Amino acid sequence: MPKLRCLTAGESHGRALTCIIDGVPSNLALSANDINKDLARRQKGFGRGGRMKIESDRAQILSGVRHGKTLGSPISLMIENKDWANWETIMNPDILPSPPLNKGGLGGVVTRPRPGHADLTGALKYSHRDLRNVLERSSARETASRVAAGAVAKKFLSEFDIRVISYVTEIGGIRRQGSGVKGQGSGNNLLSLFNKAEASQVRCPDLKAEDKMITKIKAAIKKGDTLGGVFEVAVLGVPAGLGSYSQWDRKLEAKLSYAIMGIQAIKGVEVGMGFEMARSFGSEVMDEIYYRRGTAGRAPVSGGFYRKTNNAGGIEGGMSNGMPIILRAAMKPIPTLKTPLSSIDINTKKKFLAAYERSDTCAVPAASVIGEAVTALVIADCFLDKFGGDSIEEIKRNYSGYLKQIREF
Ligand SMILES: Cc1cc2nc3c(=O)[nH]c(=O)nc-3n(C[C@H](O)[C@H](O)[C@H](O)COP(=O)(O)O)c2cc1C
Repeated sequence: MPKLRCLTAGESHGRALTCIIDGVPSNLALSANDINKDLARRQKGFGRGGRMKIESDRAQILSGVRHGKTLGSPISLMIENKDWANWETIMNPDILPSPPLNKGGLGGVVTRPRPGHADLTGALKYSHRDLRNVLERSSARETASRVAAGAVAKKFLSEFDIRVISYVTEIGGIRRQGSGVKGQGSGNNLLSLFNKAEASQVRCPDLKAEDKMITKIKAAIKKGDTLGGVFEVAVLGVPAGLGSYSQWDRKLEAKLSYAIMGIQAIKGVEVGMGFEMARSFGSEVMDEIYYRRGTAGRAPVSGGFYRKTNNAGGIEGGMSNGMPIILRAAMKPIPTLKTPLSSIDINTKKKFLAAYERSDTCAVPAASVIGEAVTALVIADCFLDKFGGDSIEEIKRNYSGYLKQIREF
């Protein structure tokens, strides 16, 4: 069982999104502001649709925190849907005297499944005649909850100087310069990419590529089409030894890819060089091992052992090796298109062209922030697994004992 558990709940147009995070130790300083910063980052990005203009997500802490510090009890968070007032009838949990009418899929009973979505298979599986019963939960609006939970995990990791960052490397086939190359991976280099990404409208650190990406998104908007892309998540300051080689489901890259693949529209994950490694000689890609006595400089989290390259992306044998962890994820284009796609009405069984509802054109920048959140949840869970204790003080003692152990190894 994971040490840090997180469950989310809530429909896209329901009253609110919620989540419970269980296993956060006591005495961690935590405020709603810590969470709201990331919720705001998730809502940004050139190419988002109208919904983001309506919602301005803010988390309320309902339990598990008192006077600014965690209690060690389950933390529950709530993000109200600002649009609820307009959906109160349609999404009401109570039996209503006059149920909403079929308004052709906009607001009322939905009978026309959108290609690329959970609509049709979800209806077959759960026996729903109104596809809204599927799309409300399968929507990526749910990811606001995961970003909120991830912000708590990030706050915990920050106590141990661990940072989770991300940036976009590709949108619609336009790549940032230097992406996908081998060897990248010094923490400083990654941090500088992140800082540039934070200032970019598409979270891309390369200004020339950013311009081209925005032009391509504008062209997609004009055409009524959509775009996907690629983002990278990096974790800095991770100690060697999170995860394990001893059992398949304890391998760190397995847990991380599971979490990333759990994000809506993500269709592939790579670790470090990933697929590019398969196209190279072994001599070109293994990260050779070096040692420097005393750990004040380069590698305090791996006892003085270090690599000059990081093609492995910080994970070998299912464990973090002390280098930055680097993950890359591919997002498919947004499936709702203004240019209508063909589908079949579940009642009439007749062909129709899918109706367009307000939708994003490109959400890769937002997905990269979500990628940070789910990565932080996994790293925090593995950290607690290794150094677990009930309070921050106890975990700090355990962690500094381990750092001493590997320093003296
Ligand atoms: C941040 C984010 C925003 C998204 N926005 C939309 C959107 O506005 N319209 C849409 O049709 N799909 C959107 N998606 C994608 C769908 O949620 C996703 O493709 C769909 O639920 C089907 O799941 P699958 O692609 O994982 O198979 C978004 C995904 C993410 C991660």
